[in-house]
Amino acid sequence: MCGIVGYIGKKEAYPIIVKGLQRLEYRGYDSAGVALLNDNKLNVYKKKGKVADLHDFAKEHDLKSTIGIGHTRWATHGEPNDVNAHPHVSNGGKLAMIHNGIIENYASIKTDLTSKGYTFQSETDSEVFINFVEDIYLNTKVPLAEAVRLALNKVVGAYAIAIMSLEDPNLLIAARKGSPLVVGLGKDEFFLASDATPIIEYTNEVVYLDDQEIAIIKDGGLTIKNIEDVEMKPYVQTVDIELEAIEKGGYDHFMIKEIFEQPKSVADCLRGRLNAKNGHLHLGGIHDYANKIVNADRIVILACGTSWHAGLVAEYIFEEFCRISVEVEYASEFRYRNPIIGENDVVIAISQSGETADTLAAIDLAKSKGATIFGVCNVVGSSIPRVTHAGSYTHAGPEIGVASTKAFTAQISVLTMMALMIAQKKGTLSESAYRSLLVELETIPEKIAKCLDLNPQIEIISAKFKDAANFLYLGRGYNFPVALEGALKLKEISYIHAEGYPAAEMKHGPIALIDENMPVVFIGTKDSSYEKIVSNIQEVKARKGEVIAIVTEGDTDIAEIADHIIEVPHTHEALMPLVSVIPLQLLSYHIAVMRGCNVDQPRNLAKSVTVE
Ligand code: F6R
Repeated sequence: MCGIVGYIGKKEAYPIIVKGLQRLEYRGYDSAGVALLNDNKLNVYKKKGKVADLHDFAKEHDLKSTIGIGHTRWATHGEPNDVNAHPHVSNGGKLAMIHNGIIENYASIKTDLTSKGYTFQSETDSEVFINFVEDIYLNTKVPLAEAVRLALNKVVGAYAIAIMSLEDPNLLIAARKGSPLVVGLGKDEFFLASDATPIIEYTNEVVYLDDQEIAIIKDGGLTIKNIEDVEMKPYVQTVDIELEAIEKGGYDHFMIKEIFEQPKSVADCLRGRLNAKNGHLHLGGIHDYANKIVNADRIVILACGTSWHAGLVAEYIFEEFCRISVEVEYASEFRYRNPIIGENDVVIAISQSGETADTLAAIDLAKSKGATIFGVCNVVGSSIPRVTHAGSYTHAGPEIGVASTKAFTAQISVLTMMALMIAQKKGTLSESAYRSLLVELETIPEKIAKCLDLNPQIEIISAKFKDAANFLYLGRGYNFPVALEGALKLKEISYIHAEGYPAAEMKHGPIALIDENMPVVFIGTKDSSYEKIVSNIQEVKARKGEVIAIVTEGDTDIAEIADHIIEVPHTHEALMPLVSVIPLQLLSYHIAVMRGCNVDQPRNLAKSVTVE
């Protein structure tokens, strides 16, 4: 939520910042702005809309500066408009700030500042904060960085901030709590960003700030201290993201690029961990803690959205192969009740971004009650991997399209490997079943590639249904979470109302919706509930619903009754979600494109949900 970029060095800051904002636009895209310093003037340009709208406006103005901060916004306080856009400037006109997060106690600070004569242009909590800093700075006469630190000690909430001052063109201050912030270290230059993607073009040396740390970049040097004023030693890491991984590479959208990347992203996820020929399976990141899962009373999976759907697939897999009871919880619900969780429970937190605020808070809660926490995350160096006891990265590469696709299949791949590793340790799976699952898992990338060959057929089906007002997605067993995921993909990018249900539940309500105007997508691949799903399809057909069925290659029973069939390669039913979800991703993509929707940046959404 909200992308922030900063630069200080010898180069022109504006082009670096605008390019960086474009890379971070997936985090929010309702308004954008920059602050620059030239000729003893603080120039702030901001615009409602995309970064391109900002650039169209800014290019007519003075853009010279070797220091700057930029922001692309996902609105929390105040509607998206030019005034509420960041950066915000303090009343004295000398301080500019960008902010990602929420200052929860902004109202009381605002009342206090108002009584001192401060006025506010915007409705944002962020403008309150920069004036709070100014007030402390002017009254205490301490250095600006110290004023920022004192202010941060008084605020409740989450923040990643960057502040610059007209008084000192060689100073850039940044801080984080709950919202990510990376400092890039170049030669005689520093970069700030919400993640490493705007930075990798210039340097691969970065420092991920920890919560409640402040970075002070002054006169070519970096100092990091925490808000208790203790100086911290910067931990410099090397990032290895390839530039091409964050560009569209000839595709029209990131989403379709990422869908097509899945044979590779799943293979990357398995690489070095799985070797079916010699029965090798090793997840280094969980190895030392694996016995915690083996001996666990229960696994609690915490996640949101698509990651939660991956968690549901994992529930079936862990229960079947490891015989451990699993509960899958929405992180947002878990954290606000009084969950029963203790030292013999293991938590698996799943998150593509590794930054989801609700998932982070749910982890904190479970940790405080003594549970062991495993993370399954995609973004290296993000917050969740840093607060978990152990975990495995999904290695799917940067996912930029807001709708999650390749992260989902990579999450399931990691969770499947985890379950198989535990099952083998526990002895709950026979050696032959274990071996054959490894062999099957290794074939998944090529089976996904076969599904991608169905793209032209799916495009034709999409054209037929692009104007539907509603969709129902039904599946059973392992394909039930796939039904949920298919429905989520469609609604979030095409704005068509879609619901996913376990197929048997249809009779308990949703069947009332079925008529000739209701397309029903069945995920009816050959598995242990195949006969049952055939009956469910018949029930829909009897009520004139139009059926699109995902079936296993060579299927004849469903082919006879469904209106459209999409044939996917056969695999073990536990691995089928990795295959059966692909046509659903493609269906939602094409329908959204045909409806003229912005698939990579759907309305109201943001990729990384760092507010609760
Ligand atoms: C849907 C989607 C979201 C995310 C959810 C959790 O396509 O992307 O539902 O899955 O916001 O995000 P992460 O996985 O980053 O915690």
